[in-house]
Amino acid sequence: MLRRLHHEQPETFAFSPANLAWAQGQIQKYPQGRQASAVIPLLWRAQEQEGWLSKPAIEAVADMLGMAYIRVLEVATFYFMFQLQPVGSIAHVQVCGTLSCMICGAEDLIGVCKEKIADKAHQVSADGKFSWEEVECLGSCSNAPMVQIGKDYYEDLTAERFAEILDELAAGKVPTPGPQNGRYAAEPLKGLTSLTEYDSGKTKYNASVQLATDIGDTVKRIDGTEVPLLTPWIDKGARAATPPKSTESADRAASKPAHAQKKTAAPSAKPSDAAPTAAKKPRTMKAPRKAGADDLKQIKGVGPKLEKLLNSLGFFHFDQISKWSAEELAWVDDNLEGFKGRATRDDWVGQATLLASGEMTEFSSRVKKGDVY
Ligand code: FES
Repeated sequence: MLRRLHHEQPETFAFSPANLAWAQGQIQKYPQGRQASAVIPLLWRAQEQEGWLSKPAIEAVADMLGMAYIRVLEVATFYFMFQLQPVGSIAHVQVCGTLSCMICGAEDLIGVCKEKIADKAHQVSADGKFSWEEVECLGSCSNAPMVQIGKDYYEDLTAERFAEILDELAAGKVPTPGPQNGRYAAEPLKGLTSLTEYDSGKTKYNASVQLATDIGDTVKRIDGTEVPLLTPWIDKGARAATPPKSTESADRAASKPAHAQKKTAAPSAKPSDAAPTAAKKPRTMKAPRKAGADDLKQIKGVGPKLEKLLNSLGFFHFDQISKWSAEELAWVDDNLEGFKGRATRDDWVGQATLLASGEMTEFSSRVKKGDVY
């Protein structure tokens, strides 16, 4: 399939302020001179924001990373996950047309797309709400036939149910993703025949559907405000700051045409990225405050064993953890016997900052609901 830029392009592209901060945080994950490694996350974020990748979006990403436009265009045109033409304002529907789905009725689903959306793939429907395409196996073959709508899978479909789903979406509703024939996950239709002790009743839906319904962003355009924007590799849970200019990127920018130079904002990794962080023991407490210790298991990555270990180290409260500096975090990570590095990896500081302020994280909500064991 020939993949080229759409014949109609918007004048400009700009990340939303929150998405821009997110993008700058991503860029800072990489060592100086390697900012181009962030090209796919940035292109993806641009697509999540707009629904598709326009030429101005591709150029804006190139400018942010100090890359030649053609290099970023190569990436955008190579991967089919990038949409190079406008998509429906509500959703772009991806119908799996590979073996299992084809045997189980994908052609009927494509028929629904042709009837209800547009006769040809990658065309926007007359009301502007939907577009569709046929894609290769989406890895949900045991729940064939299936489609991906926005970020989630709708599985075990019939043409009738798929048509209903499109109607519901058009009416502003978001049908529950996952199997549409009553199955919990991918078990036999008549129920489990083995491993029956692993009853599937721990959460209302299977894990991916549960997460999809908890997050609720199936067809939402991502503007950066959905979840707390945490960049623990920059600072302890701080929001991403505007990065300093990279010498290498600046040099490259200087050799670019003037029209590109004026838009270039060349970010870089912090100088400290190369050096390991010195460890410093945080302030600890001998015992929890009178009101009792916080339930540290609300922090994703902290189970009963780690909570006990943290308590034995002198940490009982979210606000203690929220105050760890980078050096203190390094000390804690070093002292998590058997779990070294987990505090940084799971961003305990960022999570604890939210929990200490009385907010919930997606994970702590599930703990409170009893969905996490
Ligand atoms: S064949 Fe459709 S998901 Fe694999």
